[in-house]
Amino acid sequence: MTARDTGSRRNHGTPDPCTIVIFGASGDLTSRKLIPALFAMYTRGRMPSAFSIVGCSRSRMTSEGFRQHLLERMSDQEIDRNSWADFAENLYYHPVTYERDSFQILAAFLRDLDQQKKTGGNRMFDLAVPPALYPVIGTLLGSVGLADEEAGGWSRIIVEKPFGRDLDSAVELNNILHVHFNEEQIFRIDHYLAKETVQNTLILRFANSILEPVWNRHYIEYVGIVAAEELGVGNRAGYYEQSGVLRDMFQNHLMQLLVLTAMEPPSHYEADAVQDEKAKVIRCLREFNPDRGSRILLGQYGEGRQGDIPLPGYRSEPGVAPDSATPTFALMKLFIDNWRWQDVPFYMVSGKRLKRKETRIVIQFREVPHRLFEDVLDTRIRANRLVIETFPEEAVRLHFQTKDPGTELHLRPMTMDFAYSEHYTEASLDAYARVLLDGMTGDHMLFWRQDGIELSWSFLTPVLEQCEECRSATGRLHPYPAGTWGPPEVREVMHMLLDD
Ligand code: BG6
Repeated sequence: MTARDTGSRRNHGTPDPCTIVIFGASGDLTSRKLIPALFAMYTRGRMPSAFSIVGCSRSRMTSEGFRQHLLERMSDQEIDRNSWADFAENLYYHPVTYERDSFQILAAFLRDLDQQKKTGGNRMFDLAVPPALYPVIGTLLGSVGLADEEAGGWSRIIVEKPFGRDLDSAVELNNILHVHFNEEQIFRIDHYLAKETVQNTLILRFANSILEPVWNRHYIEYVGIVAAEELGVGNRAGYYEQSGVLRDMFQNHLMQLLVLTAMEPPSHYEADAVQDEKAKVIRCLREFNPDRGSRILLGQYGEGRQGDIPLPGYRSEPGVAPDSATPTFALMKLFIDNWRWQDVPFYMVSGKRLKRKETRIVIQFREVPHRLFEDVLDTRIRANRLVIETFPEEAVRLHFQTKDPGTELHLRPMTMDFAYSEHYTEASLDAYARVLLDGMTGDHMLFWRQDGIELSWSFLTPVLEQCEECRSATGRLHPYPAGTWGPPEVREVMHMLLDD
C-alpha cells in the first residue's frame, strides 16, 4: 500500500508554560511511565518553553535524590545523558503527607517555584497513587486553593484508572472532585484512547466514504473486541485481586474500543461532540440479560506452559489468595439496541496468561447473498473481515477473496494490509506522553467524560454483582491452563476472533 499524501494533522502546538505535580512520585508508575514519557516529549521539543516537574510522595528525599532515583530506573533505556542533565534541572521533589498543613506548605512551594520559573500559575496534578487517595488529594488541593484558576493560570487534575469500583463509588468520586474542580479541569485517563490505531478507528470510519454505508446490521455479522495478554498478574496482585478482569479491562479499555466502533458520526471533531456520541452508545447497550442473548463466561488461569517455560497458576502468584475467585479471563456477548446494530452480537474478550498478546477489533462482514462460486467450486467462501489491530502490530487488514492466477477457477483469500511501521518512520509518542501532552493543552478528546464513565459503570455494575455472587451461573469460574486461549468452552469463539 502506498500513502498518497501526507494528510492534515491535528496540531496541538506547544503547551503553555506550566508546573506538573506528580503525586506518587516514588512509585513504579512515575519512574516506569510518567517520567520516561515527559523526557521523550522533552527530547522531541514537545515540552513547554518553561516547565517544572514536582514529585510528591510520603518518602523523604531531596530533589537531587529524586533525580538520581529516576535516572537509575531509566538506565535500562537508551538515554542521552546531556539531554537528561538539561531535563533533570526541571525536576524537583517535595515530600507530602496527605493532610491540610502539608498541602499548605506545598501550595507555598508551588507559588515560589512558579514565580521563579515563570510558569504563569498553570498547574497540572497527576494522581499516580492508589485510588483510595484520589478523593483525599482532590479535596486537599481544593482546600488550599490549588484548584482555583482565578489568578489567570489554569489548574488541571489527571486521574488514573480505576475510576471507582462500581457505579456508586464512581459517582461519589465524581461528586468529591467536583466540589473543587469543574468538569473542564478533570482528565480521566484511559491509555487505550491514546493508541494510534484506536484513534485511527474514527478516521477510518469517518474520513472514508466506503465503509460507512456497510457499517451496520445489514452487512456486519458480528464484532469482536479482543485484548488478550500473554503476561500474568505479575507483582500487581494487591490491586488485581480487588479488581479482576472486568474492572481492570472491560469497564474502561474494552468499552472505549466498543464505543469507537459503534458510535454514530459526531457533528464535528471536537471533544464534547465525540463524547456525546460515545455516551449514546453506552446508553443503548442492552441490559445484560441471558434471556435476551447476553452471555458472560469467566475464567481463571491455572498452571501451564509458554513454550518450554512452566508457568504458575493464578492462585500461586505472589500475593494471591490460595482460594481466590478473581477472574483473570472474561468473554462477554452483548448487544446494542439501536437502528444500526440491532441483534449484531458484540464479543468482548480479555484475559491474562493467554497464548499471546493480541489487541484487535474484528469486523466480520456477512457472507455474499448469492453463492455464485460456491456451487461451481464446491468450497465455502469466507466472508470479508476487517481487522483493526493494535498489537502485535499497529495495522488495518482487510481480508477478501481473489482468483488464483491460472486457467483453473480457484479462489484465494487475500489480505490487503496497512501497517503503521511500514509507512511512518517517526516513532509515535507513547500513550502516556500523548495523554500528558493533551492534559497540558487542555484537550479532552482522549479522556473519559463524567457521563461516559458513569454510564459504563451502570452497565457493568449489575453484571459484576451477578458474577461476584459465586453461586450464580454467571459467577462460575472456568479454569484454563496458562499459555492457552482460555477455558475450553470458549475455544470456538476465540478461534473465530483470532484466526488461531
Ligand atoms: C492496564 C491494566 O490498564 O492495561 C493491565 O491495568 C493491562 O492489567 C494493561 O495489562 C494492558 O495495556 P496494554 O497497553 O499493554 O494493552
